[in-house]
Amino acid sequence: MGRAEGRHVLVVGIGSGDPDHLTVGAVRALNETDAVFIVDKGAAASDLRDARRQLCERVIDPAHSYRVVEVALDAVRDRGAGSYDEAVAGWRDERVVAYERLIGGLGPDETGAFLVWGDPTLYDGTLAILDDVRASGHLQFAIDVIPGISSVSALAARHGVALNRSGEAILITTGRRLARDGVPDAIDNVVVMLDAHDAWRAFGDDYDVWWSAYTGMSGERSLAGRLGEQREVIDRERTRARVERGWLFDTFLFRRRR
Ligand SMILES: C[S@@+](CC[C@H](N)C(=O)[O-])C[C@H]1O[C@@H](n2cnc3c(N)ncnc32)[C@H](O)[C@@H]1O
Repeated sequence: MGRAEGRHVLVVGIGSGDPDHLTVGAVRALNETDAVFIVDKGAAASDLRDARRQLCERVIDPAHSYRVVEVALDAVRDRGAGSYDEAVAGWRDERVVAYERLIGGLGPDETGAFLVWGDPTLYDGTLAILDDVRASGHLQFAIDVIPGISSVSALAARHGVALNRSGEAILITTGRRLARDGVPDAIDNVVVMLDAHDAWRAFGDDYDVWWSAYTGMSGERSLAGRLGEQREVIDRERTRARVERGWLFDTFLFRRRR
């Protein structure tokens, strides 16, 4: 990757837990970076922070000198008295200020890398926040995005299943949206992420399911089959995981049976 003059920001997808999912491009980018930014929030923060640190130690050449800058942010989502949209706006403002400070800490020709879980283009706010930082006009910097293996790809690979049957559409959605909007009739394949409130339970027994929690990480649990037969065990596993670990990352693929 040729480097222009000036501050440079890399947004590096690091995969969703399995260190083997780091791409060659990500390894190269990390070895060209002066500062690694690790930004975390929420219950999973310390586990995910450790995973990122370990990745850096594993793939960055010990002869390459770089610094790690960590920022812990409060998770304002789902708290507070205001609406969800207001909460997200507050959370985003907080991040814009924090990111501006991180990028402002780079020397005039230095490169800083944000390590993003999975792929930066899927349910991740980093790129939108960097747009806001640029729009604020206080700092100038170039951005490069290095794609990563998303939790959706990791789920499908784990089960050796394609996300859709030939020619079919796929809906990728969150538990919150699923609860609010349901599934359009024309959609047979639904990937559900970020389902803290068990919206998945609304799927009927006319679906097959592929499910995986902590895919590629220690404590991974993966199950698949007819939803009618897997429903109870998935429910039980989710409850147990939340109690034991204090946080849960899991992803579902549902497919309407023919
Ligand atoms: C904020 S989103 C981040 C998604 C990420 N950018 C990606 O590409 O996968 C967090 C959600 O991703 C999913 N997720 C992330 N890592 C996972 C993993 N190792 N196993 C299963 N699901 C995971 C879960 O649905 C979790 O609630």
